[in-house]
Amino acid sequence: MASEERRFTAPDGTRLSWTEAGSRDGAPLLLVHGFPFNRSMWRPQLQETVPGWRVIAPDLRGYGVSEAAGESVLTMDVFADDVAALADHLGIRSAVFGGLSMGGYILFALLRRRPQLVRGLILSDTRAGADSAEARATRLATAERVEEQGTASFIDDMIPKLLAARTRRVLPAVAAELRGIMAAATAASVAATLRGLAERADASAALNTVQVPALVVVGAADEITPPAEARLMTRALRSAELVEIPDAGHVPNLEQPDAFNRAVASFLSALER
Ligand code: MLT
Repeated sequence: MASEERRFTAPDGTRLSWTEAGSRDGAPLLLVHGFPFNRSMWRPQLQETVPGWRVIAPDLRGYGVSEAAGESVLTMDVFADDVAALADHLGIRSAVFGGLSMGGYILFALLRRRPQLVRGLILSDTRAGADSAEARATRLATAERVEEQGTASFIDDMIPKLLAARTRRVLPAVAAELRGIMAAATAASVAATLRGLAERADASAALNTVQVPALVVVGAADEITPPAEARLMTRALRSAELVEIPDAGHVPNLEQPDAFNRAVASFLSALER
C-alpha cells in the first residue's frame, strides 16, 4: 500500500494528520518524529516497510500538515495524548511505538499515561533524562529568539549538530532534505515546543519498570544524544538490545536507512516469534 495522507480530529478539536504504509491489516508500528521535524523524516521507513507490518506516522500538532491549537507551550504530555488519540481513532489496542529523539521523550510520556497501548518500543537517538538547568535556560532563551527572529538561524545552528560529518560531506541530499523538513516548522510551534522540552519530566527512574521489549538505536556519531546515553538506557531497561549505526549522527533513519531498517526488521520479527 502506498503511503496516503489522512486526518482525524483530536479530543480538543484540533485536526491532526498521519500517513500510513505497509499492509493495512498488519501489526501496527507507530513512528513519532523528532523536533523540529514532521512525519516526512520517516520517508525511508514508509517506503520500505517490514512485511506484515502497518506503519503509521503522524504529524505532531503544529508540525507538517497537522493544525496547531495556539498553545504557547507544547508539552510531551500533549503530544503523547495526541498519539494515543490517533491509536484510539484507528481502533488500535496495542502497537509497537518508535520515536526519534523528542519522539522518544513523547513515548516516555505515553508509557506513563497509556502503558497498555505499548507492546514494544523503538527508542532512537533519545534519552530518558530531563534537561539540566543550563539546557533549560538555553531552550527558553532560544524560544524567545525564534519568536522574535524566525527559525532560520536556529536551523543553521542545528544542522551540523544533527548530522554526522560524513553525512554532510558525502550525502548532501540528506542534509538538504532535513533542512527542508525543519524549514517547514513555524516559529510559533518551534518556540512552544522548546518550552515544552524544557519542562519535560525525567523518565530515568521509570526505565526499569518498562515491561515491554525495546530496541535502542543510536548513530555512532550522534552528538546530541551520544551512544553513551543509549548504553545507559539499554542497561536500565529490563529487556533491551542496542544497535549502534556507523556513519550516522542524530538521524540514523535518514542518514543510514538500510542499517536502520535492518535493525527495526530484526527487532520486529523477533517480537512476532
Ligand atoms: C530532537 O531531535 O527531537 C531534538 O534534538 C530533541 C532535543 O532537542 O532534545
